[in-house]
Amino acid sequence: MTRGALLLLMSAAMVGARETPEVTFTRDVAPLMYETCATCHREGGPAPFSLITYDQVRRRATQIAQVTRSGFMPPWKAEPESGDFVGQRRLSPGEIQLIQRWVEAGTPEGNPRDLPRRPTWPDGWLLGTPDLIVTLEAPYGLSATGTDVFRIFAIPLPVAATRFVRGIEFHPGNARVVHHANIRVDPTPASRQLDAADPSPGYDGLMPRSAAYPEGHFLGWTPGQVAPLVPSDLAWRLEPGSDLVVQLHMQPSGAVEEVKPSIGLFFGHDPPRHTPTILRLGSQSIDIPPGEQRYVITDAYTLPVDVDVLAVQPHAHYRAREIKGIATLPDGSTRWMMHITDWDFRWQHVYREVAPIALPRGTVLSMEYTFDNSAENVRNPQLPPVRVSWGQRTQDEMGDLWFQLLARSDRDRATLARDVNRKMTAEDVNGYETMLRVSPDDTELHDDVALLYLGLGRPADAVRHFAASAAIQPQSAAAQYNLGTALAAASRLDEAAVALRRALTINPGSAATYANLGAVVLQQGRVADAVKYLEEAIRLDPGNLQGLNTLSSAYAASGRFDRAVEMADAALRLVTPGPLADEIRNRRDAYRGNLKR
Ligand code: HEC
Repeated sequence: MTRGALLLLMSAAMVGARETPEVTFTRDVAPLMYETCATCHREGGPAPFSLITYDQVRRRATQIAQVTRSGFMPPWKAEPESGDFVGQRRLSPGEIQLIQRWVEAGTPEGNPRDLPRRPTWPDGWLLGTPDLIVTLEAPYGLSATGTDVFRIFAIPLPVAATRFVRGIEFHPGNARVVHHANIRVDPTPASRQLDAADPSPGYDGLMPRSAAYPEGHFLGWTPGQVAPLVPSDLAWRLEPGSDLVVQLHMQPSGAVEEVKPSIGLFFGHDPPRHTPTILRLGSQSIDIPPGEQRYVITDAYTLPVDVDVLAVQPHAHYRAREIKGIATLPDGSTRWMMHITDWDFRWQHVYREVAPIALPRGTVLSMEYTFDNSAENVRNPQLPPVRVSWGQRTQDEMGDLWFQLLARSDRDRATLARDVNRKMTAEDVNGYETMLRVSPDDTELHDDVALLYLGLGRPADAVRHFAASAAIQPQSAAAQYNLGTALAAASRLDEAAVALRRALTINPGSAATYANLGAVVLQQGRVADAVKYLEEAIRLDPGNLQGLNTLSSAYAASGRFDRAVEMADAALRLVTPGPLADEIRNRRDAYRGNLKR
């Protein structure tokens, strides 16, 4: 320490002693530790050491003064203007000052009688007794050294019937090394298969698309975070055969560690009456040059109905610095939904509103994230910096702001869900395009994005990607079939027929391909050829619904109404009730009318 600094410290201590009453551990500091630190810094808590006794706090006094002044502790990234959230932890400027003064005064203990009652924490589950507890079957062995580890585990949820989940409680199983957990539910076997393909517990990589937030509910865990149970009318449905998919972010501790998380699930009795909708704002076109210090992404969404905002979750990787989420109401006024000026990937948090925030229809929810991909960003994982684009691996970047929204009626919810789904899919395709710039020969990426484009009603873009996929694998009948289907959707019938015939050359036994070819040829007005292809489809697979339905039309087009009625009846025996069934029935009745004449 330089002489000047020493003098300054001494005079600060003296001023402190003269002008303000003495600060002591027992009277002033202990209550702050108990309230804002000990929830994590306690025996068995998620922080690496306890901050409860005088000795424990005194030994780390200088560090405590430093991390509270810098705002690193307690970990709470949202600035005050972001709103009031469940489990909020923050020290006031006065309290931060108090800790500084205590350290400057030489960490006096004070009168033991001033010490408030030591807080206690219930052992085990904080939300009560779980209805179901699942634990990782075999512990994961985390190596002693190395960089951060991201590992995904598929944990089966053994329920015999549909259950209504009011909440989950996550226990990391080794708080020293588990830094945070992303949690999703996969109703399909996709995650389980990925886990099983890796010989040790869990697997590296990405979660499949089928692993998602269940029915509009955020799941996830950061140290010290326990989401309260939702009212039973807001529960989410858990179907038998689903897996909980848990991605752990772990940091080696210097010793080999075993990690074995458990999750408690809490069930309600009744099916939910309300289902929230999750909206994701963000950009999947992120592409940041090395050294760029202010790379900004923005996004916005206009609410089509009135909603209540229940929770907000920002997400980005290491290079994000500032995070802004704003609501602009129809009257032009604005309010913060989220503001973080020092984003830290290591403190992912779901911010749940203490009271729902009502936003009227027409409100614009917007976000603006700023990234720093220079060497000046101390959290930049790649030094010297490299070009970084959107992607889910930690070396890639992301920038999302998620909202949990509750519409006021079923009708509004349906409108919102449809609109939000469209908005998010439109961004998802950008993510695929970004990933394909990096891996242009990945046929799975081409096929997935093509399907999304078809869903968005953009068949020309679907054709572009299915064509690329087919060019990479010229011997794949499936690729030709996909291409033919997309060409037909784009009304390019001649090319569609060529692709479908090529698919049949490779695989002559596909009923679906004959059915599609029949439909294309029928649209071209070649009725006799259509009947021929469609009859072949039905011969190969008498239960091919599309084949039966199209063959019915083809017979009608050639004046054979008796056969048309017969095929429509066969189709009606297979179709599930809905608009398609109604349409087939109407057509069948019309053909019957023709029969009588
Ligand atoms: C939500 C849980 C949580 C709360 C609340 C919390 N901490 Fe921590 N703290 C941690 C974790 C976890 C670490 C381990 C460091 C890390 O993983 O970043 C840590 C680390 C620290 C460190 C070591 C920092 C370093 O650079 O190694 C200090 C000092 C500290 N905390 C002090 C405090 C004080 C003082 C408070 C209260 C004002 C507090 N913490 C509140 C979770 C918490």
